Amino acid sequence: MKKTPPQKGSLTIIGTGIKLGGHMTQESMSVVKSADRVLAVVAEPATFEWLKRLNPNIKSLAVHYDKNKYRHQTYQLMVDEIVESVENGHKTAAVFYGHPGVFVNPSHKAIKRLKDLGYEAKMLPGISADACLFAELSVDPSRNGYQAYEATDFLLFNRTLDSSVSCVIWQIGVVGKMSIEKVEQADDNLKVLVDELLKYYPKSHEVILYLSSQFNIIESTIKRLPLSELPVSTIPELSTLFIPPAKPKQLNLTMAKKLNIDISKITT
Ligand SMILES: C[S@@+](CC[C@H](N)C(=O)[O-])C[C@H]1O[C@@H](n2cnc3c(N)ncnc32)[C@H](O)[C@@H]1O
Repeated sequence: MKKTPPQKGSLTIIGTGIKLGGHMTQESMSVVKSADRVLAVVAEPATFEWLKRLNPNIKSLAVHYDKNKYRHQTYQLMVDEIVESVENGHKTAAVFYGHPGVFVNPSHKAIKRLKDLGYEAKMLPGISADACLFAELSVDPSRNGYQAYEATDFLLFNRTLDSSVSCVIWQIGVVGKMSIEKVEQADDNLKVLVDELLKYYPKSHEVILYLSSQFNIIESTIKRLPLSELPVSTIPELSTLFIPPAKPKQLNLTMAKKLNIDISKITT
């Protein structure tokens, strides 16, 4: 009798977007529905329950979060579990909130490991927090450019800023935290970040703390304040900092000439 070959597992990484239910693409939903196993890291319990209705074979990877573990240890355990599911022959959907490849470490690592092992592994795009920010704060990144950093990365690796360019600082709620701790209040680390930002912007420069709503019935939080007041503010853990440009962009006349651009037609 002919033996059935062992089932070959595969991985599709998808994102829920930020807002419960409404942000997930049709393509991603059909991946969840047809998966043998769903492994999920989402921002709050309602999204997990919503995913469970699409596919009851779901497990939360949030069990790996532990305030005594460094973030990279937690991420490693998540990658191990995703890889194991695929190696066990399961068509696996791994779900992360927002865009699954934006500020998400285990998604990229799992794809790399599985591809190296010869499995099919891919990622589908999702709606990220900055996509929501662009919409709600009316920011078009093409206008003044767009620079973005993870807060701790910005400080640790001597990054530089151009204050004529819009700036987004991610993970402002967990500056310098290498483990998953709940932080609701400003602390010394935030002051370190602001001191660094003050090298580029004046104290009075208006910045925006942005928290995109995860539910249709709740408004997003958009708090405008002078940069110098940031260290004494309450920073919700999931907020993102938007810093508008502090000076105008400079036109390079030599370049305009080289490109044969009529500067009277340039809109700023
Ligand atoms: C681990 S990253 C995950 C980002 C997510 N994958 C995405 O595509 O937006 C977490 C950071 O994303 C940003 N973020 C997540 N949810 C947010 C929300 N509801 N509003 C504003 N920023 C958010 C914050 O900067 C937060 O610290």
